[in-house]
Amino acid sequence: MKNNNKTITLPANSPMAAPDFIFGVGTSSFQIEGAVHSREPSIWDTFCNQPGAILDGSDGITACDHVARWEEDVELIAALGVDAYRLSLSWPRIVQRDGSANEAGIQWYIKLLDKLAAHNIKAFVTLYHWDLPQHLEDAGGWLNRQTAYDFRDYVDLVTKAFGKRVYSYATLNEPMCSAYLGYEIGMHAPGIKDKAAGITAAHHLLLAHGLAMPVLRKNSPDALNGIVLNLSPCYPASASSADKLAAKTADDRLFGWYLRPLLEGAYPDLLAALPAAEQPPIMPGDLELISQPIDYLGINYYTRAVHRAPDASIDNAVDCDRGFVELPPTPPVAGATPLTDMGWEVYPQGLTDLLLNLQQTYKGRLPPLYVAENGAAIADTLVDGHIDDPQRIAYLQSHLLAVNAAMAAGVDIRGYFCWSLMDNFEWSLGYQKRFGIVYVDFKTQQRIMKASAHAYRDMMQRRTSAG
Ligand code: FCB
Repeated sequence: MKNNNKTITLPANSPMAAPDFIFGVGTSSFQIEGAVHSREPSIWDTFCNQPGAILDGSDGITACDHVARWEEDVELIAALGVDAYRLSLSWPRIVQRDGSANEAGIQWYIKLLDKLAAHNIKAFVTLYHWDLPQHLEDAGGWLNRQTAYDFRDYVDLVTKAFGKRVYSYATLNEPMCSAYLGYEIGMHAPGIKDKAAGITAAHHLLLAHGLAMPVLRKNSPDALNGIVLNLSPCYPASASSADKLAAKTADDRLFGWYLRPLLEGAYPDLLAALPAAEQPPIMPGDLELISQPIDYLGINYYTRAVHRAPDASIDNAVDCDRGFVELPPTPPVAGATPLTDMGWEVYPQGLTDLLLNLQQTYKGRLPPLYVAENGAAIADTLVDGHIDDPQRIAYLQSHLLAVNAAMAAGVDIRGYFCWSLMDNFEWSLGYQKRFGIVYVDFKTQQRIMKASAHAYRDMMQRRTSAG
């Protein structure tokens, strides 16, 4: 199918056009909320204060000022005509330092959820999208097993308060990023660089998920309860057995490390090769808790990864120990699809490969899937009040076709969420990377729908009018 980079079109008879297939947009609390003074501090507030941690020296103090502008933002979401909105809750806005509820924070979320419901928009609520209360980090954060129990208690408190308002809960967003980027390579909050810490954090995050699942089942039995992982298919840089092993090692360490405990109740075999000091702190019963059935698995996909084997003569000890080196994407050549503004390769085939692979690898154990995030950062410019973003439109179009191909091959996919509703705080890259289909002028907080927002809306509109 040809695309003119102005519209987004589903193929004829696409299963994605069925009325029960869910289209949505997503955000997360720290990236949009602002209003830091009406909640407890989080690890991201602290991290933003570390010199050099955030590329543009920015922070989340105002972000998209969403706590103040939430009504306007819900109207914007409604104007897009989406079926669902994926948001995350700020744990430090809900629970106070002494463990008691912050009623004002809870009431703010309830108003938001009620307004979404009034517009018939399903709420997909992520309980943890990286903004750990700082006082818990001070007690060891995800290195402390107690944090998993604290998470369970927070989930109990908030799900009781929300009642039946939520269509779907995700316990965690991308635990790999929390553990690996946050505790192992120090690129994200809390900025710790220690392999054993990364492995410990990963285990406690998985445990937190496992402890929260029965709470969700009890308090929100009608909601779809699951977890969201970031997954990138890992390809070897060459056909050599060393590169193939490197790609497999990367896949096991970064992605299988979460998928296998969740879906099979066991860590990848790599675990056995780790020295005692790097073994995860697994207690009896942990893996049973972690591998309880989930109603769905959310997948965030942006690009693929290509790995080669480390070479002791050129690579550092950390890479050699890790067993894989990720190659930077090949610079675009004339006629090829350019990289996104993140420097990420546009590789929709990777999404189809990933989905088919999951289906094959976890046959019989794979719950229904949602693509919980997919989108592109583009260096958008505002011209005469408009943002023309053909590159983002092409990205969304090609990735919807990739999902369609996987569904046509029999993968059970129930929904697709575009990342993001609006430009926001892109973690260690600050406000420099624009992922929104809605443009945010951070000086005035004006929101302007980009051409991609119109294209996404029109695609959904055609689907409903055809049905
Ligand atoms: C994902 C995060 C999300 C956003 C996108 C670009 O890893 O879940 O918050 O930053 O990447």
